[in-house]
This record gives sequence, C-alpha cells and structure tokens, in this order.
Amino acid sequence: MHNDEAAPSKGILSRAVGAVKTSLRAQLLAWVVLTLIGAICINLYLSFRSADATANLVTDHTLLASARVIAEAVRVDANGTVQIDIPPAALEMFDTGYGDRVFYKVVTAWGNLVAGFPDLPRPERDSIGEDRTFRTDGVRVLMLSHPVVGLDQDSTISVAVAVTHNSQDAMRRRLWLSDFTKQLALVLLAGLVTIIGLQRGLAPVLRLRDAVRERGRQRLDPLDPHMVQNELRPLVHALNDHMERVQNQMAAQRRFVSNAAHQLRTPLALISTQASVAARETDNIRRDEALTALRSSTRQVTRLASQLLTLSRAEHGSRRPRNDTIDLAETARRVLETLAEEALRRNIDLGLEASEKPVCVEGDGTMLREMLVNLIDNALRYTQDGGRVTVGVEQEDDTALLWFEDNGPGIPEAERAHVFERFYRIMGTEPEGSGLGLAIVREVVDGAGGSAALADAAGGGLLVSVRLPAV
Ligand SMILES: Nc1ncnc2c1ncn2[C@@H]1O[C@H](COP(=O)(O)OP(=O)(O)O)[C@@H](O)[C@H]1O
Ligand SMILES: [Mg+2]
Repeated sequence: MHNDEAAPSKGILSRAVGAVKTSLRAQLLAWVVLTLIGAICINLYLSFRSADATANLVTDHTLLASARVIAEAVRVDANGTVQIDIPPAALEMFDTGYGDRVFYKVVTAWGNLVAGFPDLPRPERDSIGEDRTFRTDGVRVLMLSHPVVGLDQDSTISVAVAVTHNSQDAMRRRLWLSDFTKQLALVLLAGLVTIIGLQRGLAPVLRLRDAVRERGRQRLDPLDPHMVQNELRPLVHALNDHMERVQNQMAAQRRFVSNAAHQLRTPLALISTQASVAARETDNIRRDEALTALRSSTRQVTRLASQLLTLSRAEHGSRRPRNDTIDLAETARRVLETLAEEALRRNIDLGLEASEKPVCVEGDGTMLREMLVNLIDNALRYTQDGGRVTVGVEQEDDTALLWFEDNGPGIPEAERAHVFERFYRIMGTEPEGSGLGLAIVREVVDGAGGSAALADAAGGGLLVSVRLPAV
C-alpha cells in the first residue's frame, strides 16, 4: 500500500530530474529558479535584520525620551529627600494601541528606591536599550543617569524604563513585510523577465530543430546559418558540412550501383546471346566454340561479382575491423604460388624478393590478401607474354614496404590519379577486367592506415609501392 503510494511520486520526481538533465530549457529554468529562491531567502533574512534594527532604534528613542521626562520630574524637598511625581506623559508615549505595559524605577546614586519596581532589571550600559525578562514578560529596558538639582555636584539618579514587546514586534513586522514585499516583487519581476528572455533566446534553437525535423529523408540542402544566434552558427555549419558529406556519399553510392548494374548487364546480355546461339547450333564444333565463349563470359561476370563483393567488404565501416597479425612475406609467397601456373603458361618470370624474417602488419588478413592478389594479377595481366614480374616484401624501421614491379606498358602519368577510381579502366586496355582492382587496393590500404603510390619501374613498366605500419 505504502509502496503503491510512493511509486507515482517517485516517478514524477525522477521524470522531473530526467527532464532537467536532458532539456536545455529545463536546465536554464532550473538555474534561474534556484537563483531566485536563493535571492529571496537572502532578501528575507536581510530585510528581517534591518526591520529588527529599526524597530529597536525607535523603541530605544521612546524609552530614552520617557526616562528623560521622568528624570526631569525628580525634586529634592526642603528636608533633602528626593521626591518624584511621575508625569503621565512619560508613560502615555507608549500608548500606541498595542496594549503594551510600561515599568519604571527611579533609584538614587546611593541605592535608595525613589519610585517604581525595585526588581526591574538594570541594563549593563547607560542609555542603550536591552532585551530582558521582567517577571514573566519579555521587555525592552533602558536606563538613564541624570543629575538632580539640589543634590551634591556629582550625585545622579538612575531612571530605568521598560516596555513590553508588543509595539516593537508590530513595528518590526510591518517594516519587514513592506520591505520584503517590495524586494520580492522586484525579484519576481526580474525572474519573469529572465524567463521570457530565455524563451525568446531559445526560440531560434527550437526553430532549427523543427527545420531539421521537418525535412524529408532526401532533403540535404544546407540550412541558413542566420536562423540562429552567432554562438550557434558553428553548429549549423557543422550540420551543413555533415549533410554535404552525406549527399556526396549518397551520390557516390548511386553512381556505384548504376555503374555496377551497367557492368553486369553487358556480359549478361552476351551470355544470353551466346546461350541462344549454342542452343540453335547443330554443328558440334561450332556449338563447342559457342559454349567455350559462354563459359568465358560467365567467368567474367562471376569475377566482376566477386570483385564487387570484395570492394563492398573492403569499404571502411562495412564490417567489424579485424585485427589479425599478418606476415606479408608469407602471404605474398602463398599468393605467388597460386598464380605461378598462369605465369608459367604465359612464360612470365614471376619472382619474389622477400626477407626470411616475417614482415608483420596488423589488419584484416582476408583483405590484405585480396590487395596482394589484385596487384600481382594486374602486373601479370598487363605484362606481355615473356615479361618479368617481381614482388618485394621488406621492412624499413616501422614500415612494411611492398613493391610490385613489371616490365609491361606501365601507366601514363596523367592516368595515375584516376586508375584508383571505381570502374576506371584506361582507354584501349585489351585484357578484360572490371576496373575495380585498384579501387579495392585503395580501400584496403586506407583501412590499414597505409599508402599506395605508382611510379615508373627501372626497366619501363609499372612500379607499385605500398607502405603499411608494421608491428
Ligand atoms: N601493372 C599495370 N600495368 C599497366 N597498367 C595497369 C597495371 N595495373 C593497372 N593498370 C591499368 O589500370 C587500370 C585499372 O586497374 P584495375 O583497377 O585493377 O582494374 P582492371 O584490372 O579490372 O581493369 C587497368 O584497366 C589498367 O589499364
Ligand atoms: Mg585489375
């Protein structure tokens, strides 16, 4: 039962705390309200102190005036006896309608009580009021020493006057209340203005939020930075930069898909034609020729599809980065073994110059192997029969250096920047290919934090060098 009751209020509280933590507006508002509460508390205390001091001062003044009137009324008669008739005015000045009671005592310098209450407390100092208890009442009491005409030169009498607190309390309350309400009104006004200012200040941010929220998925044109204040413009600029990057990426993606579709369509159409030809052909030899061509086209499409797959896997962020430690010398040796047959068939001198020691890098083993396959495949593919292809693996300090040298036609200077682009093939390149090999190389090298460069080989041909951080 208790729990049931406690739960909703706790829910509300934690929700409120959550709102303050997450909402800028609630946070600013909370600060303003806390400041206001603090200001009101301080104001409450200070105005109480000042009202108290003023009420004490006024009471003391009245007490002093009353004591003086009583002191003036003291007479010494012919016998040398001190006598007094208390003037009514001395007591009437306390009649302010709050039902205060007044007490007094008049004492000679030698301690004789002339009039009043003998047990009225005597303040420590002259002419300064003090709060004391008299019988059961709290009183403000003040004492005045006064010379008396007809007594010895330095003979004085002491007049103590005390009054209950009613009037003083009422005055203090009134002073305090008027002071406090005035200040409270000011503080609340300031708070209200601050809150309005806050709302107005935040309005552009809310407009920005709505502007972003209203946009469709495809709308990526830049937002106007002038819709928010100076301080917030970097945020809008950052947002615009981000949208531009997304836009570029989307355009690249679209281009890629349409290129890929294009690249696939041509050989697929060819396959379709070749299949029809083979099906129609009655002559065995001619049908075998058609089937061989069909097989070759199928291989080409398969290769293209697998290159597309490799590229999408090599793309940054397409899969969880793997951190294998790979020995590049060993990997190069294995790749060369698989390509040795092809090299032999085309009478190409395929060699490896690798140190005996392992040259290790950290990265995705499969992708690093794909990179090697593509670079060696290019070198073999574009080098004429009887040529020479050499692969080198070495370590320079903390860099693993891979190089691929051939004596084929090389790549003209002007083309070097483009060949890494997707689907880019140099015009007139004879051997078939997809134009994706070097794009894959670039993705892999970038992903491993390295760099790739093209240069002229010493004996003509192409020299590709790849540098990767070694471990
Ligand atoms: N070793 C090389 N020698 C001469 N040209 C090369 C070599 N490697 C690549 N190229 C050129 O760069 C182009 C892009 O290569 P790549 O991206 O691997 O695509 P692909 O090999 O599928 O055509 C090739 O079409 C070819 O013209
Ligand atoms: Mg290639």
